[in-house]
Amino acid sequence: MPKPPAACLIGWPAAHSRSPLIHHYWLRTLGIEGGYVIEAVPPDEFKDFIFRLSLRGFVGANVTIPHKERALALSKPDERARAVGAANTLWFADGELCSTNTDVEGFINNLDACAGGWDKCEDAVVLGAGGASRAVVFGLRERGIKRIHLVNRTMARASALADQFGASVLPVAWDTLGDLLPSAGLLVNTTSLGMKGQPPLELDVGRLPSRAVVADLVYVPLDTPLLTAARARGLKTADGLGMLLHQAVRGFELWFGRRPEVTPELRALVEADL
Ligand code: ATR
Repeated sequence: MPKPPAACLIGWPAAHSRSPLIHHYWLRTLGIEGGYVIEAVPPDEFKDFIFRLSLRGFVGANVTIPHKERALALSKPDERARAVGAANTLWFADGELCSTNTDVEGFINNLDACAGGWDKCEDAVVLGAGGASRAVVFGLRERGIKRIHLVNRTMARASALADQFGASVLPVAWDTLGDLLPSAGLLVNTTSLGMKGQPPLELDVGRLPSRAVVADLVYVPLDTPLLTAARARGLKTADGLGMLLHQAVRGFELWFGRRPEVTPELRALVEADL
């Protein structure tokens, strides 16, 4: 009898992940026989591991730290993975190992779910200029946001990232952030500020327009000081857990052939594991 299809999460060292919980929930609720396991693979074994992915019985994989850049180089990336410079999802098409970066659609689809109409804004402010910011900026550009102000503590990183994207992305120094708030229709935090154990993000949400939408990629804690302040002002918000759940959808669809839904039940399940 053929074995049921299985996918895995490849990382190093082995770390706690919510991905098995998410994919097992979808397998169970959709009645699909399949599996999702964590594979701890050291960097010097990564290439061999993914070249034998199919032989090992996997239909695809998620890739996490520290392998995301190598995964891009060792596969056939789509436009999103190329633009972000990192791949987090692998699958096979016509026998070829393909890759994408699902953070882009995770971010955008979560915003659509939480704050429909957000894309009517003309000015977005994105805090941070690391890998997560790159996925966010690419997604915002895909959706046609006119101006994206990229604010980062280290200005050189903001400039380097903005250069990659062209004239609609403008690098901005951290100490001038306050001046941008009154015209920001969307504010996104991609930095680690507000994460458990990190300092909070010091920002006066009172200066944002009343129709602004605030998104935070941090999900531990779920209610970051930024999101709590934004909600207290009556602003629409999108949290990091929503993005995590929405980014998992595409991998599942590619591996198991059905597009799953992000349900309140799934959210509650993962929330209990944070
Ligand atoms: P990721 O891949 O999650 O984006 P990263 O590449 O390490 O992670 O980027 C982290 C981001 O958080 C960076 O923009 C970083 O700013 P710098 O480029 O100046 O380092 C930002 N960040 C982290 N700690 C910060 C702090 N205390 N104040 C402001 N920004 C911070």
